[in-house]
Amino acid sequence: MSELEHENENPIPIPIPHRATSILVIGAGELGTAILAALTSHPQYDPSRTKVALALRPTTLGNPTPEKRAQQDRFRSQAIDLVAADLEAWSEDELVTMLRAGGYTTVLHAGGFGAASGTMTKLTRAVLRAAASASAHNSETEMASAKGNEHRNEGENGNGNVEFYVPWQFGADYDTITRAGGQGMFSEQLDVRDLLRSQGKVDWVIVSCGIFMSFLFEEFWGVVQRRREGVSHRKADVAVEPQQGDQPAKEQVLILSPGETAQTAQTDTEGGGAGAGAGAGARKNSDSTQPSIQITALNSWDDWITTTTATDIAKCTASILYSPDPHPHTPINQPVYIAGDTLTYGEFADTIARATGRSVTRRVWPLEYLREESREDPEDQLKRYRVVFAEGRGVSWPKEETWSAEAGIEMETVEEWARKNLT
Ligand SMILES: NC(=O)c1ccc[n+]([C@@H]2O[C@H](COP(=O)([O-])OP(=O)(O)OC[C@H]3O[C@@H](n4cnc5c(N)ncnc54)[C@H](OP(=O)(O)O)[C@@H]3O)[C@@H](O)[C@H]2O)c1
Repeated sequence: MSELEHENENPIPIPIPHRATSILVIGAGELGTAILAALTSHPQYDPSRTKVALALRPTTLGNPTPEKRAQQDRFRSQAIDLVAADLEAWSEDELVTMLRAGGYTTVLHAGGFGAASGTMTKLTRAVLRAAASASAHNSETEMASAKGNEHRNEGENGNGNVEFYVPWQFGADYDTITRAGGQGMFSEQLDVRDLLRSQGKVDWVIVSCGIFMSFLFEEFWGVVQRRREGVSHRKADVAVEPQQGDQPAKEQVLILSPGETAQTAQTDTEGGGAGAGAGAGARKNSDSTQPSIQITALNSWDDWITTTTATDIAKCTASILYSPDPHPHTPINQPVYIAGDTLTYGEFADTIARATGRSVTRRVWPLEYLREESREDPEDQLKRYRVVFAEGRGVSWPKEETWSAEAGIEMETVEEWARKNLT
């Protein structure tokens, strides 16, 4: 039985906040898909009270690949309305028209990774323009009636409807990184925050989740790399040896056997790079037929990371949208911090060794090395991101102090993820 229902013949649904009556999700990538699932499987979800729509690019809607067509059919079967919008190609006016026509009370941007510069501020300005006037908005913040969907479609007569916005800020704490930090790559996120903080028409929340767990485990990110043949090294690994001036920087390479921890393991600090050090160590300590895992710390073993799965980011976001308002646990007009796990790279490596039972080799990419790598290839976003994470500001927060912990939301840990995906 749904949490909405009482155990009698005439169930009285729990009221939902007005913002949850018509939700537009933009983008159906890893996060957007998870958010749609979280919104439509939430105990408060009732399609007669909450309309959920998904905006996709007109080309994706009109000419989908077989895979995307199947995905779109699945969304339609879940009563998710599909609408066309191109955040990059469309003007701000066109976005305002689309938002007003839909009469959306909440806009949630779930597809900004790699968006062209200016896209996030353009969408934010369009959202603010599609908002109801401040006086209309104040009356709209009352809870929607429990009797049904009383959502007003003011957009059709031009007054605007949007009252709540979740911008594409899923990630680090950009206030702490500042415009100067991260080589300026997050200044647009700060522009969006300035726009939101300087107005009173649209409520908003920013969900700070740290690094996506899937991203943290991607081979291309470099922190977790599976080794099929012992710890043999490809050329690419040798090419990323740290350099400090003319001297190769020393890397720490620890070889962990199952059950061993960073504190008890052998340390090999010979210069000569990850390939030489890790390879030699692994031959001494592990069976070369066993796939091993290489963990690379960005800056040091004592640096901290916060990481969250897309499913949990989505679960927290849906929970905020459906939460009663006002409520001590409903964060409005502020960044909210959530965490699946917060741990040091040393703890991370120990956790992977424990969860997988495999030998884990360890190396460090020092900050200076990563800065140099990025300076040599300034267009490479990934290398710039690594510098941000190695600088260590605004990329972690204690898990026990997060909103998700205070709200008692169960979050998937690194150990759980590794057991599911690495063993
Ligand atoms: N903190 C972090 O670690 C962090 C933060 C953010 C993202 N990431 C990583 O980035 C990856 C990608 O994120 P994601 O998969 O959630 O989303 P994404 O790749 O950023 O977005 C994909 C969705 O956005 C849509 N889209 C793209 N351009 C559009 C446009 N101009 N107008 C309208 N819609 C547009 C795409 O539509 P089409 O179907 O038309 O292509 C698709 O549905 C994640 O898997 C995660 O690993 C990490």
